[in-house]
Amino acid sequence: MSETETRAAVPAPRAEEKPLLKVEGLVKHFPLKKGLLQRQVGAVKAVDGIDFEVRRGETLGVVGESGCGKSTMGRLITRLLEPSGGRIEFDGQDITHLSTAGMRPLRRDVQMIFQDPYGSLNPRHTIGTIVSAPFKLQGVEPEGGVKKEVQRLLELVGLSPEHYNRYPHEFSGGQRQRIGIARALALKPRMVVADEPVSALDVSIQAQVVNLMDDLQDELGLTYVIIAHDLSVVRHVSDRIAVMYLGKIVELADRDALYEAPMHPYTKALLSAVPIPDPRRRGAKSERILLKGDVPSPIAPPSGCRFHTRCWKATEVCRTTEPPLAELKPGQQVACHHPENFEDQQPQDVVLLAAAKEAGELVPDEVLAQSAETSAAVAAAEAAAEDTTGTSGTGETEVAEATEVAKETEVAKETGDK
Ligand SMILES: Nc1ncnc2c1ncn2[C@@H]1O[C@H](COP(=O)(O)OP(=O)(O)O)[C@@H](O)[C@H]1O
Ligand code: SF4
Ligand SMILES: [Mg+2]
Repeated sequence: MSETETRAAVPAPRAEEKPLLKVEGLVKHFPLKKGLLQRQVGAVKAVDGIDFEVRRGETLGVVGESGCGKSTMGRLITRLLEPSGGRIEFDGQDITHLSTAGMRPLRRDVQMIFQDPYGSLNPRHTIGTIVSAPFKLQGVEPEGGVKKEVQRLLELVGLSPEHYNRYPHEFSGGQRQRIGIARALALKPRMVVADEPVSALDVSIQAQVVNLMDDLQDELGLTYVIIAHDLSVVRHVSDRIAVMYLGKIVELADRDALYEAPMHPYTKALLSAVPIPDPRRRGAKSERILLKGDVPSPIAPPSGCRFHTRCWKATEVCRTTEPPLAELKPGQQVACHHPENFEDQQPQDVVLLAAAKEAGELVPDEVLAQSAETSAAVAAAEAAAEDTTGTSGTGETEVAEATEVAKETEVAKETGDK
């Protein structure tokens, strides 16, 4: 039959294909040292045993508040950091402890885009030098020469080939992030890990950059891991979403399932904070949950379920026993004793912990809408201020990122205090 013939010519669906990235029991503890002898007195448990896969061609969104270990996870899977434990497999190859030399061929396949388009581009280098650096580092000579290829890449990300001889300070935040994307794509990577790629940008250009990444994915057959602290950023581009809290994955599900019926109370709280753009829902009466307080320290995370100090459903079992990440619905993994949108697993355990009664706050929609407007206005004002002052970048991503983290923590504190 002709229909079967045509079908045979098209590659079969590759759902059962092996994942591009497979992570098992991944751990990163940063040692805390003290005194003259620099004795280790403890550890920051930034990533504390996570398992997940990234499928070929998909976008995996990773969300959670600041300090939950998202960036550390990103740096582990791109092997910018050495894991303390667990296993990372890229395209079937164990890369957990590959040396720098061993990682070299892989550096082409796995690229990272950073949060801060100001700090991650060296201000003393031209755009041409910046985007051609990966070719030099890898000793690759593209067909037609480096300059031509760099100009092609600039066009690909919506910039002009004439920008080749210009300097980073001549560009806006959104344009700089496009330059960062061009650099990441130079060596035709297979996987791109983007760590809060639009968090530092004006709200009005965030969508443009995310959409550019989405278009490039289709065009170049990329696989993405996109990290964000805000669910609204990853909503439209993710196929699946992993929610992280204090070094753990607490929920991992298909995007639609996660948005329509979140099962982990933390996911529900994060979603509550996202203003709903759907006009049909705007008038509807609903109350949402506002998380109180800060993420506890990863040096001594809470016992049992790490979220129990902030969860409005926490009971005794939550304090004593850590819930495993389990597939409660097809494709939806959750780590919780009392999941939402599911019949309770621990019906005998109904007495709320004293702290639970104060943990979450139900807030009417109108109040949230107001605060969303305010925070959007604040973000826009901050971005405008940065546009005028942000030209003195050090070129050191680490420093810039540390400032970002500090800023984020301040913002989180302010929101928590309200
Ligand atoms: N190099 C480091 N040394 C010590 N602690 C670190 C280091 N990098 C990150 N951390 C800590 O690990 C935790 C997770 O950080 P991070 O991965 O940056 O979280 P996120 O990206 O979700 O904000 C934080 O408490 C942070 O202070
Ligand atoms: S109900 Fe218990 S297990 Fe579930 S998130 Fe809350 S504290 Fe954790
Ligand atoms: Mg981060």
